[in-house]
Amino acid sequence: MVPWREAWHEALYGVHGFYRRPEGPAGHFTTSAHGPLGSVLAEAVGRLADREGVGHVVDLGCGRGELLHQLAALRPDLRLTGVDVVARPVDLPEAVGWLTSPGGAALPHTLDGLEDVLVLAHEWLDVVPCTVLEVAEPGRLAVVLVDPATGGESLGGDPTAAELTWCAQHWPVDDLEEGSRVEVGLARDLAWDDLAARVRGGVLVAVDYGHTRADRPPHGTLTGYRGGSVVAPVPDGSCDLTAHVAVDSLAHDAVVPQGEALRELGIVTGVPPRALARADPAAYLAALARASAATAVTDPSGLGGFLWVLRRVGSR
Ligand SMILES: C[S@@+](CC[C@H](N)C(=O)[O-])C[C@H]1O[C@@H](n2cnc3c(N)ncnc32)[C@H](O)[C@@H]1O
Repeated sequence: MVPWREAWHEALYGVHGFYRRPEGPAGHFTTSAHGPLGSVLAEAVGRLADREGVGHVVDLGCGRGELLHQLAALRPDLRLTGVDVVARPVDLPEAVGWLTSPGGAALPHTLDGLEDVLVLAHEWLDVVPCTVLEVAEPGRLAVVLVDPATGGESLGGDPTAAELTWCAQHWPVDDLEEGSRVEVGLARDLAWDDLAARVRGGVLVAVDYGHTRADRPPHGTLTGYRGGSVVAPVPDGSCDLTAHVAVDSLAHDAVVPQGEALRELGIVTGVPPRALARADPAAYLAALARASAATAVTDPSGLGGFLWVLRRVGSR
């Protein structure tokens, strides 16, 4: 039995880790970075780069570069760099740079001194493994251990002093009943700070599903995904392992729901005018597909409910 954080890291980023598989994350689940949704996101990211006055976009945890393909087509004026745990995908447009990363909380040492940059971490922090605690008895937290082969759990020792301090500040447990869980955001906060430390001037945006102090999930959110389905979270490398992000504990300048962030960046929803169907049927169908994608990524009960955490770095 090992602490969840350790087993989780090995399962996703170890030698046979889930994210090293050839099919990549898009083989198992869809995000706002994929397909027609990704085209809307790329437009918004390009506008955000313009709004922030930066000319370089780094897509950290970019999968196999799905969003970068869209950005390269839409905004050839921007410098683009992808970062993920695998070698550069062969089909990536030549102009797009690439850095291979260790994975999880660890970043490549070559990712440093970034200037004039927008770093997008789209669904990265939810897969940065964190410590899972359980209320063993009123007022006492224990580290949850897991068997990597079966997912069977037991309770282990005490959290570290830093984890307890994080809980006291962000996820108080005094009123939690026995069996309640805390997914300690400290590892994500530190990874986010490490990322910010690699930026001399620019803006960081993390996009993830998350919670704030007002709505912490009492029983934890650790979930497995494989082949488009939710599966039991077994840290054996056969599935994704993800837990929602405590977004308010990340250092930030703003936290806004994706729907709001995209509307602020000029993404509009709504069906195209009916007259277009007669005047230009192909254009009408394209506009309809586009409207459908924009609706999906702004829908507050779906992808639009994801949270954008924005942090500016340097004297901009
Ligand atoms: C949930 S997927 C999201 C992929 C893509 N951004 C998207 O939204 O479709 C998380 C990705 O982050 C990558 N990742 C995790 N830790 C990383 C790290 N430290 N550096 C670079 N990539 C990382 C994983 O390999 C995986 O491709």
